[in-house]
Amino acid sequence: MSVRCIRPSAGLKGEINIPGDKSISHRSIMLGSIAQGTTEITHFLKGADCLSTIGCFRRMGIEIEEKPDYILVHGKGLRGLTQPPETLNVGNSGTTTRLLSGILAGQSFSSSLSGDDSLNSRPMARIMTPLNSMGADITSRYHNNCAPLQINPGTLSGIHYQAPVASAQVKSAILLAGLYADGKTAVTEPALSRNHTELMLQNFGACVSSTMHRDGSTTAQIEPCDELYGQQIDVPGDISSAAYFIAAGLLVPHSEILVKNVGTNFTRAGFLKVCEAMGAPLTLLNKSFEGGEGRADILVKSAPLKGTVIEGDIIPTLIDELLIIAVMAACAEGTTIIKDAAELKVKETNRIDTVTENLKAMGVSVTPTEDGMIIEGNAGAPLSGARIKSYLDHRIAMSFAVAGLAASQETVIEDCQCVDVSYPEFFASLESLY
Ligand code: S3P
Repeated sequence: MSVRCIRPSAGLKGEINIPGDKSISHRSIMLGSIAQGTTEITHFLKGADCLSTIGCFRRMGIEIEEKPDYILVHGKGLRGLTQPPETLNVGNSGTTTRLLSGILAGQSFSSSLSGDDSLNSRPMARIMTPLNSMGADITSRYHNNCAPLQINPGTLSGIHYQAPVASAQVKSAILLAGLYADGKTAVTEPALSRNHTELMLQNFGACVSSTMHRDGSTTAQIEPCDELYGQQIDVPGDISSAAYFIAAGLLVPHSEILVKNVGTNFTRAGFLKVCEAMGAPLTLLNKSFEGGEGRADILVKSAPLKGTVIEGDIIPTLIDELLIIAVMAACAEGTTIIKDAAELKVKETNRIDTVTENLKAMGVSVTPTEDGMIIEGNAGAPLSGARIKSYLDHRIAMSFAVAGLAASQETVIEDCQCVDVSYPEFFASLESLY
């Protein structure tokens, strides 16, 4: 087992270059593979999840060159994939599984995909139901609505799907299948989830549009198209990874950190709003915009935090940051309430349970609820150092490493190699700030 000891810090100083966005990196490989021509990707995230996506497309005949500073994807067009010789290994990656299923549903060959124990226990009915209603033939090998999935060729028709949850993975799977359908495909979700698929599809030449409705629900729609065309993509830094360093800078007294090149797409930036609501305005510098995606450097200085309520339409814009927000809430003054976040239960772990367990181990008063948690902040008093289980969930490991910086004694993170899923250099970057 790999373990890390986190020493309490007396002040963090320095600059961090945030690695590429995981969601955008996945999509750049997928669209690059089914486009005509070459796609060049800079600042690609070489985390285990995105490497799973690369592995899957290589098994379907796509040449993908990994250079030190960029990736070249030699796309073969919408109908250029070939049948994989064996079950595609999606590792720990829900994004690979769900988005790839949308693409595989439109192919003329059979395929199957499977991942690790955590992945193979995550719900897949949420993509099987809409894709099968488009005419796909996707079944769960053990009839439990989980991977391994078997995908046989089907003829796809456009649908208008009313998604019960706001999920970019579900929306994206349907839009990608829509590329292969015989008519317009639309997805309405109850609140807007991350829109990287829509933006990137547009850049690759697809006809995609989005409409926001008065009640906050949003419809994305796509027309079938003849071809996509290879692009140059510079991936912005991942705001989900930046959140750990922003939180560390806020929580550890006497800190000042410049977190560089952070993606600020509004469908992902709920964390910045929560920082503000907790009394920690951040300074955004060097703002820019490319391919529909915003980015900025973020200057963080330590600040006392106060509790807040996080609920409703903001949830999909910070779903992966709720763990580190829970750690910030534990150090804040007052109570923080997280609601409408039942999706936390179906991530890499049941994150309501795993966050609660670990916050309790650090002496925090926390009550799990059906769709979130209630956290009593300790008003800046240090947390208790503890032995923390990562449960092999990368975001648990990183969130509690940050909690350890704000503790009175050493904190040990067990099974910490799981950070490789989204942020292989996480611990090295953290140490560079001591
Ligand atoms: C992702 C969407 C989110 C997020 C996941 C990445 C994506 O999942 O939690 O880490 O890249 O589309 P859901 O769409 O299921 O909420």
